[in-house]
Amino acid sequence: MSALADWRVDEPAPAHVPADRVVDIRFAMGQRPNDRLDPYFETDALRAPGVPRLLYSPYPFGDKSKGTWCVSHYEDIRRVYEDNDHFSTQGVAQFQLLAGETFPSIPLGIDPPQHGKYRRFLNGHFTPVALKKLEPQVRAMAVEMIEDFAGRGEVDIAYDFGRVYPVRVFLDLMGLPFAMFEQFLAWEWEILHSRDHQRMGNAVRQVIAYLREFIAEKQARPDDRLGSYIANGQIDGHPLEPDEVIGMTWFLWLGGLDTVASTISQMFRRMALDQDLQARLRAEPELRNSAVEEFLRTQPLVNSFRLVKQDLDWDGVTLKAGDYITCLNSSGNFDPAQFPDPRTFDPARSPNRHYTFVGGVHLCLGAHLARRELRILLDEFFQRVPQFRAKPGADTTVTPGLLSIRNLPIVWQVN
Ligand code: HEM
Repeated sequence: MSALADWRVDEPAPAHVPADRVVDIRFAMGQRPNDRLDPYFETDALRAPGVPRLLYSPYPFGDKSKGTWCVSHYEDIRRVYEDNDHFSTQGVAQFQLLAGETFPSIPLGIDPPQHGKYRRFLNGHFTPVALKKLEPQVRAMAVEMIEDFAGRGEVDIAYDFGRVYPVRVFLDLMGLPFAMFEQFLAWEWEILHSRDHQRMGNAVRQVIAYLREFIAEKQARPDDRLGSYIANGQIDGHPLEPDEVIGMTWFLWLGGLDTVASTISQMFRRMALDQDLQARLRAEPELRNSAVEEFLRTQPLVNSFRLVKQDLDWDGVTLKAGDYITCLNSSGNFDPAQFPDPRTFDPARSPNRHYTFVGGVHLCLGAHLARRELRILLDEFFQRVPQFRAKPGADTTVTPGLLSIRNLPIVWQVN
């Protein structure tokens, strides 16, 4: 029996979705915990011969109450990210709806051509030149945190480091007070991991109330950080509307915390389990930039979705306006049509145009910052901590996707 026949399910789907496309492929959507070195190993089945390129998952996903079309080939994912006439980000990552807020997430929830003006407004703070200025602080934070545990011979790299470091970088970037650190982590956990709409909504409400106060404070007393720049921002000579200011501040808060944290835990997990790779990255610093890219490719945390804006005939089916379509980056990043020998972790891989940061106009604004945080971390960690392993008995199970890893104790020899 083909994989497709195994996956078919008899679940209700909209009338325009042919029954033979309705499948249970939740395994590819980042929900099945496993302990493989490549936790995303299952997605190749989606690109097997005879499997239609457009499938329909009838199950509610994220904060949505209906199912979604799914594409899994690199080429099809590219089409969705690049075709802004048919596909919209309206409703993507709109957790604020759970708190009764109607402002959009900016820039993610805005379609072109409006989207461009917000990107231009924010870009200046994320260029390589701007990030270079930020680098000494980021490096100092990494060093301080690593030196704190280097002499102990062990650390929970996910909980005690990965969860914390990106938040510290973010506070610094935005000009948010360090005193909010623990509170941010607690709210972030509720929103992204509680899986309970009421708890999520409560946390979102508190974050937004806090950010509104922060904005007012920065309007009263501006400084040179990104938070103040947004609070006092102007586009084309007009001050930003309150919804634009909170929409940007809120989305930046949401975008950069858990993504980097999950990437760090998965990156250290792989190095703990693959001693040869770790030794090679220690010995060959010139490989570290391309290795960061390969970590990102092989750990695609987010399967982004889009709203269909107008009917479209594709692959023998009709996508109707109002449908959702999910891009399975967890599959596209392993498509052999784009990546030779895709299941091999090649720290020297080049080119490496993966979709972990998506593609098209919504390509992650924080991508360079994230790369820099990861590269600095590798350098400073290798300098201070010798070859490490997972602590004997540690649970190295990973849930592919953002939920990822809560705890990952690693150990090393202390002289
Ligand atoms: C490894 C770390 C990161 C990953 C994997 C990641 C992933 C993503 C993804 C998948 C999207 C697009 C979502 C979609 O189109 O549906 C995105 C967009 C975005 N990300 Fe990141 N992100 C990371 C780090 C960051 C950081 C550090 C920041 C900022 C501090 C950030 C800010 C943003 C913003 C503002 C957007 C919206 C871009 C736009 O719509 O034009 N991200 N990110």
